[in-house]
Amino acid sequence: NVDDFPCKITAREMVGEDILSIRVRCPSIAESIYPGQFVLLRDPSWGMDPLLMRPFAVSAVHGEDLELLIKLVGRGTSLLAERSVGDDLVVRGPMGRGFSSPESSPIYVAGALGAAPLLFARQVFGAGRFVLGVPGEGWGPFVDYLEARCPEMEVFSDDGSIGVRGTALDGLEKGESCPIYACGPMGMMAAMVKLEPVSCQVSLESRMACGIGACCGCVIETVQGKKRVCADGPVFNLEEVVW
Ligand code: FES
Repeated sequence: NVDDFPCKITAREMVGEDILSIRVRCPSIAESIYPGQFVLLRDPSWGMDPLLMRPFAVSAVHGEDLELLIKLVGRGTSLLAERSVGDDLVVRGPMGRGFSSPESSPIYVAGALGAAPLLFARQVFGAGRFVLGVPGEGWGPFVDYLEARCPEMEVFSDDGSIGVRGTALDGLEKGESCPIYACGPMGMMAAMVKLEPVSCQVSLESRMACGIGACCGCVIETVQGKKRVCADGPVFNLEEVVW
């Protein structure tokens, strides 16, 4: 059963030009949400416009607070970024199917904002290697924010301006035997297949519309046929997805 909860913003911070970190107090979701699951968010003052609640991965739970990382990509997210500490939001969740727990020390592999659900996984499943890839220039505040939460983070950037030049996948060996948890752009996930990891769960960042399994706007092809990222995922086994 998934409900809507009224909740207040308890902290907010811009971590880059268009990335917002926000905390909302929502005790019932905070105690039940699992890494990889997501929440839907809307401002109670939105009437029917923007119509849909927006989906966001949870990057940490702090007591009764959920921490979210939000990329400002459109009207809904820009309106969210205008909210202040103490303002009300409506949160629905936990949504979707999250990661299953690792049997041995995991490796977290993130592409940019894909770090959000993996930070929460690290909080629950324990530290392991954490490999991050970002485009580079302009991403310094975001990387600082992540490193404050995960000091062991290994950083790669496409342009070499932060950390080592390369992508997050350059931090992995072929045939890696540790369980891998990954989240990032589809191209990065597809490239992961070539590394033939023994065990890899991926959280997909498909663009969602309804977020509740009703519109089929997030359908992907899997070896068992079509699946909805929002309702059947967003976490899938790497080998389950047709890339
Ligand atoms: Fe509507 Fe997934 S976003 S079914």
